Amino acid sequence: MTNEKLQELARKHLWMHFTSMGYYHEHDVPIMSHGEGCYIYDIHGKKYIDGIAGLFVSQIGHGRKEISEAIAKQTDKLAYFPIWNNAHQPAIELAARLAEYAPADLNRVFFTSGGSEAVESAWKLVRQYYTEIGEHRRYKVISRNLAYHGTTMGALSINGLTAIRNTFEPLVPGTFHVENTDAYNSHLMTEGMSSKEFGIKCAHEIERAIEIEGPETVAAVFLEPVQNSGGCFVPPDGYFQEVRRICDKYGIMLVSDEVICAFGRLGHMFGADRYNYVPDIITCAKGLTSGYAPLGAMICRDFLMEPFLKEDTTFLHGITFGGHPASCAAAMANLDIFEKEDILGNVKRNEGLFKELLEGLYDIPIVGDVRGAGYFFGIEIVKNKATKEAFSKDEMKDILFNLLSPKLYEKGLICRTDDRGAPVIQLAPPLICGPDELREIEQILRTVLTEVAEVVANL
Ligand SMILES: Cc1ncc(COP(=O)(O)O)c(C=O)c1O
Repeated sequence: MTNEKLQELARKHLWMHFTSMGYYHEHDVPIMSHGEGCYIYDIHGKKYIDGIAGLFVSQIGHGRKEISEAIAKQTDKLAYFPIWNNAHQPAIELAARLAEYAPADLNRVFFTSGGSEAVESAWKLVRQYYTEIGEHRRYKVISRNLAYHGTTMGALSINGLTAIRNTFEPLVPGTFHVENTDAYNSHLMTEGMSSKEFGIKCAHEIERAIEIEGPETVAAVFLEPVQNSGGCFVPPDGYFQEVRRICDKYGIMLVSDEVICAFGRLGHMFGADRYNYVPDIITCAKGLTSGYAPLGAMICRDFLMEPFLKEDTTFLHGITFGGHPASCAAAMANLDIFEKEDILGNVKRNEGLFKELLEGLYDIPIVGDVRGAGYFFGIEIVKNKATKEAFSKDEMKDILFNLLSPKLYEKGLICRTDDRGAPVIQLAPPLICGPDELREIEQILRTVLTEVAEVVANL
């Protein structure tokens, strides 16, 4: 089919997600054609380096035949059967493998078809768990400002992004949001404060919220190891250890939402490993299959299963495509590649270089802060580095979406520009990237940011 025909059909029939469709009355829809390793090609044959791994997904890169072969083999044998009162080999094997990778006694795996469903499942599980053990009043959730946890009504309610919550109010009751760990902008961070002091202060915001709400009514705290939205907020020293202590003190579940951070994004199978804490539940998706098929999971500590081991008790929750055989086969093949090619080792070996390259951009006047870990970084753009003066709403739109984004795209770098908090460029390349690809990303950023800095200087 020609590009013209596809454009016409896309304009008429396709509803793209989180996309201003009106923009495409006058602009071509970017249509991607195929991918190979760290690169993606559009319908015109133009090559781009995939600096965001699709959407924090393509850990092992594009076009891996091993995975399509594993999917084909599985669908030939058993294309679909639910894991409701039945099971199948791919789901069993994958559950056991995830339990082996997961920290401590996170041994029980509930499959979903994506990240929002994993978050939704985790909230439902803790609510039913507390009901089963007689703590009926516990249903509330605490999460952080700006944090993204998905779009289904439960997950959306946990979400700390006012802009995408407000339209859908009233939301599911019982969610509360506290300060995140944005050390660059947080009012909790003061001159000369150490990372550890900041970490303790941020953790105590959670404790304060628990006490205000009434500890006996709070069910869970949902946190990402590195918070994506707002631009890769890393946890300060000691933060997760203090949050764990607080959760234990009040008998509250700690849910590590690792939809982005699991499967190598931070150089470890799970973000909790990197930051050395044991959550009660891990929610994950995306990199579990590297995007070759949709799949998510909620991984739980053993004790969470206990009330459900009685014959008359069932977790009242299920999803038709959760643990789809083809997706589980894709995940197994994906994880085989992780092991065969030492994907985690590649991230560990190169993340220092990646950080150094990005921090090298500090010589550009609009680069205010570079933050992140592993292959997951955000670059905050500022109008004035000395005063941290923010762009006005109109300036932000012009700089971020009318200038920066198109220029990066034109130069062949796919990444994400985000204004949900301060303006940031986000980078999360495939985990197979080596020094050459990381340098290529830095070069494009340097060229474009230098051009944009000249425009900003004349504002
Ligand atoms: C931390 C986190 N949780 C949940 C989700 C929702 O996942 P999905 O889009 O697969 O529903 C995302 C998506 O980016 C995420 O980053």
